[in-house]
Amino acid sequence: MNFFELKSGVLHAENVALTDIAEQYGTPCYVYSKQALTQAFNDFQAGLSTTDHLICFAVKANPNIAVLNVFAQLGAGFDIVSGGELARVLAAGGDPKKVVFSGVGKTADEMRAALGAGILCFNVESASELVRLNQVAEGMGKVAPVSLRVNPNVDAKTHPYISTGLKNNKFGVAIDDAVPVYQKAAAMPNIAVHGVDCHIGSQITEIAPFIDALDRVLGLVEVLEDHKIHISHIDVGGGIGITYDNETPPEFKQYTQAILEKLNKKQVKLLFEPGRALVGNAGVLLTKVEYLKLAESKNFAIVDAAMNDLMRPALYDAYHDIVPAQTRGGEKTVYEIVGPVCETGDFLGHDRALNLRENDILVVKSAGAYAMSMASNYNTRARAPEIMVDNNQCHIVREREQITDLFALERKMP
Ligand code: LLP
Repeated sequence: MNFFELKSGVLHAENVALTDIAEQYGTPCYVYSKQALTQAFNDFQAGLSTTDHLICFAVKANPNIAVLNVFAQLGAGFDIVSGGELARVLAAGGDPKKVVFSGVGKTADEMRAALGAGILCFNVESASELVRLNQVAEGMGKVAPVSLRVNPNVDAKTHPYISTGLKNNKFGVAIDDAVPVYQKAAAMPNIAVHGVDCHIGSQITEIAPFIDALDRVLGLVEVLEDHKIHISHIDVGGGIGITYDNETPPEFKQYTQAILEKLNKKQVKLLFEPGRALVGNAGVLLTKVEYLKLAESKNFAIVDAAMNDLMRPALYDAYHDIVPAQTRGGEKTVYEIVGPVCETGDFLGHDRALNLRENDILVVKSAGAYAMSMASNYNTRARAPEIMVDNNQCHIVREREQITDLFALERKMP
């Protein structure tokens, strides 16, 4: 079901007109649908009823505490990559016993915070990290539960900036080098080996790379068992793509079924770390057309959202569909949709055919993932508010920043 639908010519989030939200809260502004989040999570989980599993939402995709709270209430765990994300999960009412901690550069302080909170597992990404984690745990009189993130060297066939499973990426330990690292871990007094972890990239639209990676991970698990190292969970990471344009990513059911088939009834708990697939199409970015600038070579629609609000187009040349909040017939013109930031890379979309007038509200779709979470204050622009729609109610889940907040931590020289 789609929770962003046209009703009498006006695009709605559930039962609220996006034009009303723009009027009430101003633009730019992010809008999320609680039902869309809920349905995505439940759909993902539906294929897993026969197996011991935990879905750990990748917080980096959308860390708003209202979003995290919706997932926490549905029973989700969380995949974090910083002490900051841990603090958010706890503030949102997430269960620390369902948290896995990924990332190549965990600091000793972050390790201490996570050990103190009692997280489920550290996804350790190097032999040096293992040594440090053992020391930190020893200092606290604790034993750290770990998985080793292995790099299976499979090509996820996605954008090079978001591909992580090839052997020349900075992530994880090459799968061929993993056994001695596991042996080291098993011998460390303050480390307990729990699992194997693997994440090969993001916005992956085919099942095959996931299954190739799992195949290699299962091979490793067997070798580890021969070495008397028991693995109680396999974390298959995140990475399932969504439809931005005309991509056809696997449905959750196909994906989970393929994984379960590959597992072939092996008794092991499965962990998943989906981010984008749970939130990407549960959110949009509303923006107002400020100016139309018609020129011989190009027409520009200058809108009030910019690369600081949604940097995916500038950073990855990513496509986001852009539609009017209110439909209007008549002739369309082809526009570059650009923001006010002083960079040629500041665009939200190229060559979009739209019938526009100044002050129109545009809806930039698929902005629930890696949109607000990657927003910045470039050009001293306040970050936009976030609104969560629940049926016919709107809840402001993050206020618009005030300009004075942006330099409140700065000081003039004495
Ligand atoms: N687990 C780990 C260890 C990760 O590094 C990531 C994403 C995920 C899970 C979640 O992946 P997802 O299911 O969302 O694909 N900023 C980029 C995406 C970067 C993804 C980084 N890691 C974008 O806007 O496309």
